[in-house]
Amino acid sequence: MQTALDYLAREQDRLTADLCQYVRFPSVSAQPAHAADVRACADWFARRCQELGLATTVYPTSGNPIVVARTPTIAGAPTFLVYGHYDVQPPEPFELWTTPPFDPQVRGRSLFGRGTTDNKGQHLAHLNAVEAYLRTGTPLPCNLVFLVEGEEEIGSKALYEFLPLHREELACNAVIISDNGIPGLEHPSLTYALRGIAALEVRIDGPSRDLHSGLFGGTVENPAMALCQLLGKMRDDQGRITVPNYYDDVAPLSEYERAQLARIPSTAEEYRTLTGSPQLFGEVGYTYEEQRTARPTFEINGLTSGYQGEGSKTIIPSWAKAKLTLRLVPNQVPSKVIAAVKAHLERLCPPTVRLTIQHGHGGEPYLVSPDGPLAQAALAAIAEGFGHPALLTREGGSIPIVSAFKTHLGAETLLIGMALPDDNAHSPNEKFDLDAYAAGMRMAVHLWPRLTDALASVRA
Ligand code: BES
Ligand code: ZN
Repeated sequence: MQTALDYLAREQDRLTADLCQYVRFPSVSAQPAHAADVRACADWFARRCQELGLATTVYPTSGNPIVVARTPTIAGAPTFLVYGHYDVQPPEPFELWTTPPFDPQVRGRSLFGRGTTDNKGQHLAHLNAVEAYLRTGTPLPCNLVFLVEGEEEIGSKALYEFLPLHREELACNAVIISDNGIPGLEHPSLTYALRGIAALEVRIDGPSRDLHSGLFGGTVENPAMALCQLLGKMRDDQGRITVPNYYDDVAPLSEYERAQLARIPSTAEEYRTLTGSPQLFGEVGYTYEEQRTARPTFEINGLTSGYQGEGSKTIIPSWAKAKLTLRLVPNQVPSKVIAAVKAHLERLCPPTVRLTIQHGHGGEPYLVSPDGPLAQAALAAIAEGFGHPALLTREGGSIPIVSAFKTHLGAETLLIGMALPDDNAHSPNEKFDLDAYAAGMRMAVHLWPRLTDALASVRA
């Protein structure tokens, strides 16, 4: 194993250059104009896998291609599936980037570019670890399957269709994902829970056209005002969501979990600074770490109505729209929560306007026991790779496909993040820390023997 670790240390600069190549593809799944870039990006990753001797297929789908690549088969050995996504969030607003999002550049120990941390750098680190095994003749103790998709940032529709049709090809003992964060380089962690998500679009229609606000103001409802008032009723000033039955299925945090989360060595003030907010706001009775990982939310992601151009325009807009997402926690069920929210909005909407609600994507929350042998093996590999003991953390973000891995493959997922809290995922100036990249690769070298041994000891 040391030979593989030495190889990674020697090849560090070239592996950073490889990541730069990967990041140069503007693989923005949300924007149809980038469809060709998305396909080229999938092909780039597939070619890397092929060059290393992995049996690789790029599957066309109803949407963006899915890449599956397997290491040379070792009969009788366990199989682990490494999941990642090559699609990225839209880079806008461009003017807030110090250097262009798809022209990756190193400053200090950070590589800046859209997709560096979310998620190209993190799953490429796994492939690089496999390269280190294969190129140094170090025998891999298990079979690995890379499953890398191109629609994670827009709800993984194609992968939901793909999984049940490729059960046998993707059969595995466990899934490993590095698409999440750790509290710090000196505080790596194993993540045992993710929040789920449910997306909605709410539209309020009023007058048949924009009306002169002088001639008509005061006689008909203003849809923008009606929408604001309606949404304003969804949360109280204690940070609690007021939708009846919203919290019915929320699993409370155990004292053990609260104690684990409390070990994360960052203060509320540091966290506030990270957000750039004047003051923190969250549900009363919970720490910010609990609020952001183990409590559900009701977020407005976008709000549109009326005139947004220069100067003023005195109108009553004829419609108003809001894009909403709810972050859900174990054991909330997206469809049930959406039904509760829809019913509440409909109950509260005044008869002076018309309300239309559309559902978007959804994903279940995820929770895995951190006590099992595989989780313990992962904790050890994380400590070896990062050189510091691993904490247990929950994460606030969502990777909806994780629960489908359980359903269709019968496999639990271990989440081993490499992203740092200030990596700016989804924000301008996204970056990936090159020390996290290196530590992540070392972790991935240690991981496979650790997991293989853990399974063997369970079977013995
Ligand atoms: N990598 C994130 C998810 C994530 C981030 C998990 C941080 C844990 C910690 C992923 O790429 C992502 O952004 N997912 C979306 C899913 C959504 C579009 C369905 C999210 O969480 O908003
Ligand atoms: Zn993301």
